[in-house]
Amino acid sequence: MGEVGYLTIAIDGPAGAGKGTLARRLADHYRLNLLDTGLTYRAVAHALLRVGLPLDNVSAAETAARQVDLAKLDRTVLSAHAVGEAASKVAVFPSVRRILVEKQRDFAKSPPGAVLDGRDIGTVVCPDADIKLYVTASAEVRAQRRLAEIESIGGTANLSEILADIVRRDERDMGRADSPLKPAADAHLLDTSEMAIEAAFLAAKSIIDDVMAKRDKA
Ligand code: DC
Repeated sequence: MGEVGYLTIAIDGPAGAGKGTLARRLADHYRLNLLDTGLTYRAVAHALLRVGLPLDNVSAAETAARQVDLAKLDRTVLSAHAVGEAASKVAVFPSVRRILVEKQRDFAKSPPGAVLDGRDIGTVVCPDADIKLYVTASAEVRAQRRLAEIESIGGTANLSEILADIVRRDERDMGRADSPLKPAADAHLLDTSEMAIEAAFLAAKSIIDDVMAKRDKA
């Protein structure tokens, strides 16, 4: 078990790899709390965008970060593509990260434990997590999935623009100095490029059940 005795599952990976859906399925299955930590960075970005402040106004971003209430993250408002882009920009500031990470750690400590997904969960937020998954998929597959998602709700988009966007976001999230996106040394890698969500869920479940069975025997 994690440091406080509750089960913690850490899921990291790039944008669009399917970690959010996987995190939800796992939280339902193991009856754990769920936190999409991307929403916390999105909430900060959204607060700045709403009042027209530049995304590099660090002190305004810190204030917005302090005001983030994990119980009030509104996915409908925060899921806009532009908010995700902006979130990736405010996420480079160490002081903003420190404030949000503290809230995320408190969340992970609540009973009965939690699934957290993001970019630095296994490496920084919950380095003692019982299970760490690094979920990835090729940039091309992620772009295809995003296009299908947009089209399924009646929108239109250009595949090569989506792909360029994904590559740029990966570079920013993996290239920043503080808490860059990377697999923890003890993470289990799950490449979903050729997996539907159900297959990814079953693969993750088998990794988790295996780890828990070994731990019960120890
Ligand atoms: O997962 P997402 O697309 O909602 O995340 C939006 C941005 O927030 C992402 O591009 C980088 C940042 N982020 C982060 O730096 N650390 C996290 N744990 C989660 C998200």
